[in-house]
Amino acid sequence: MDIKNLIAQMTLEEKASLLSGGDFWHTKAVERLGIPAVMVSDGPHGLRKQDQEGDHLGINDSIKAVCFPAACATAASFDKDMIRTMGEAIGDSCQHEQLAVVLGPAVNIKRSPLCGRNFEYFSEDPYLAGQMAAAYINGVQSRNVGTSIKHFAANSQEHRRMSSSSDADERTLREIYFPAFETAVKQAQPWTVMCSYNRLNGVFASENPWLLTDVLRKEWGFEGYVMSDWGAVSDRVAGVAAGLDLEMPASGGHNDRKIVEAVRAGKLDEKLVGQACERILNISFRYLENAKPETPWDQEAQHALSAQIAAECMVLLKNDDQILPLNKTDAVAFIGEFADKPRFQGGGSSHINAFKITSALQAAQGLPITYAPGYSTDGDSASDEQIAQAVAIARQAKVAVVFAGLPDAYESEGYDRTHMRLPDSHNKLISAVAAANPNTVVVLHNGSPVEMPWIDQVKGVLEAYLGGQAVGQATVQVLYGDVNPSGHLAESFPRKLSDNPSSLYYGGEGNRTEYREGVFVGYRYYDKKEMDVLFPFGHGLSYTSFAFSNLRLSQGGMKDTEKQTVTVTVKNTGSRPGKAVAQLYVGAVGGDIIRPVRELKGFEKVALAPGEEKDVTFTLDRRSFAVWNSEIHDWYVAGGQYVIEVGDSSRHLPLRTEITVSGTVELPRHYDVNSIFLDIMNDPKAMKVLQPYMANAMGGLSAQDEAQSDAAQEAISAEMGLAMMKYMPLRGMLSFNGEKITPDTIDALIKAMNEE
Ligand code: BGC
Repeated sequence: MDIKNLIAQMTLEEKASLLSGGDFWHTKAVERLGIPAVMVSDGPHGLRKQDQEGDHLGINDSIKAVCFPAACATAASFDKDMIRTMGEAIGDSCQHEQLAVVLGPAVNIKRSPLCGRNFEYFSEDPYLAGQMAAAYINGVQSRNVGTSIKHFAANSQEHRRMSSSSDADERTLREIYFPAFETAVKQAQPWTVMCSYNRLNGVFASENPWLLTDVLRKEWGFEGYVMSDWGAVSDRVAGVAAGLDLEMPASGGHNDRKIVEAVRAGKLDEKLVGQACERILNISFRYLENAKPETPWDQEAQHALSAQIAAECMVLLKNDDQILPLNKTDAVAFIGEFADKPRFQGGGSSHINAFKITSALQAAQGLPITYAPGYSTDGDSASDEQIAQAVAIARQAKVAVVFAGLPDAYESEGYDRTHMRLPDSHNKLISAVAAANPNTVVVLHNGSPVEMPWIDQVKGVLEAYLGGQAVGQATVQVLYGDVNPSGHLAESFPRKLSDNPSSLYYGGEGNRTEYREGVFVGYRYYDKKEMDVLFPFGHGLSYTSFAFSNLRLSQGGMKDTEKQTVTVTVKNTGSRPGKAVAQLYVGAVGGDIIRPVRELKGFEKVALAPGEEKDVTFTLDRRSFAVWNSEIHDWYVAGGQYVIEVGDSSRHLPLRTEITVSGTVELPRHYDVNSIFLDIMNDPKAMKVLQPYMANAMGGLSAQDEAQSDAAQEAISAEMGLAMMKYMPLRGMLSFNGEKITPDTIDALIKAMNEE
């Protein structure tokens, strides 16, 4: 399709009309020119295609579809191939349903356990979120269907989501809140990006030229179109100028008219309107020209795939005395209504009308299981009678498995949680059951961390997350060892909410939320604080054991323009086949920059038979060592020593080595009379200029000390002199040694140092 030619034939009104939706889920058509409307749909972990009345809150019905595990679960798989496969399946369903774009993945950073939408987001770690997002996008788009990575950017709370401003400094945005989007754009080129509801440092994301044009397009090279979140537009004309191409859903034509008026009044360049049309049509036709409505959508096959994926995502948090896996001949009590009616997805726009749901009770049919509901999910209550019944069956059983977690109302799009607790009824039930049977295991269905006041009373905890419609099947497979658990936490579980670094500021004051903890989000904070956590980022147990050995670097040192490969050997030292998640973290040794102790820079999932070993290779580059420098507005690697650690949790890193990295980017020098010796001494080039004057500068210092006794004088060794001198500004040379050094000498010195 010759899109430029089409646009050339359009009136201004037609062009403006294309820049908003025709209805809740469609772009507009221009019949005169044969431009059809295309349909978009939520997303992200399955289709929420609405036939009838549209809504963006998941209230009205949508077609029957397959609900895959939510992102909180899929991130825990640490398995890029698997999430790509899930993307392919979703892409196929889109083709079948004639959807041009699926609205996902959602990659916002889990700043706090309280965010109501954490279940839809991948991680507290930007690297992990970026890798998973890119794999998902590549999967969906391999089917010639678009994705809409969302919500761009810094949309880490639901509280006041349509008015609040996320106020964060440049470095925090670049290191924490942007990279998932950046990686996805660079590695997978999503067809569309959805801007968020919130303001970013005071400017709505939907009208932020720095965000939507400078960063997204000019820096990262985004080629598709930007759509608004549903109703995120405040000033449409400013939005067009900023790079917001499509307003969703529709604005009753009002905003289209405003665009026309602004062009006519000379306030908006018509070229920008044409450009937005071109971007939208490029994507619509990319789909239309590759549409394959004949693509089959085998929902049963996808249900099976969803079970397989859910099992890969489960995280075995605790397994004392190898209480798991269960023996298929043992009497086991399943307790808790979630065993019968699992909570497998979250509320809001991602809510899928699952065509079929498999509960753990159904999946365990034929096994010697007893069941008691223990609590009622509708009222979050547990009567004495319900608890007594649960305790009674727990006593009779070899092992009691309590299914607990967060009911729907506890976490959802649209609002945040106010605490990190399970319902009291669930906590009460777990404690009562654990008191009755020491062999108690808890299965959790939740989209975000919870406190576990009973953790020392139970032997096992399996985090099943919101694992999609087949979660019950996957849970039973993992409980009984048909699948060896291999999920690892994509988020830290703090012991209590107040341990979380954002808890001081989360939610903000009025419409302003300051991200004051900066880059210290999640484990970046807990590690720096050396704080005990309930379960650390990256943690996950297995029914087998793994050993990590033989860390090798491709070269002893590297320049920041080079690449480095790190190879380790992972061995299955147990007696069952299993999958290890090898995680690589990088940290700096010393240096002036305030930064996290370690940051995830690579991970690989490896399947190993008992006794088998495999090499795992990671590639590190500039970004693995860089921080964002707000002075040069770019990534910067400080030359020096870095630590590379490898293991299978952020707090279990048996392999460690150091590497010297030399930085090739020089920061601008602006020495002046107030620059201190320390900074100059740390800068070899400036130091070369200063060196000849050092003796004089030092001389000045010792002259000042002449009044002191000889012994004391001697004690001021050269080393101490240097230590005392390092905080002295250059102008101090005049104060202490004015006869030998003149202001002109200092000026000349400064000039030479700045020019070096
Ligand atoms: C959500 C988006 C969603 C859109 C359409 C909004 O309320 O924030 O994630 O894609 O609605 O349903």
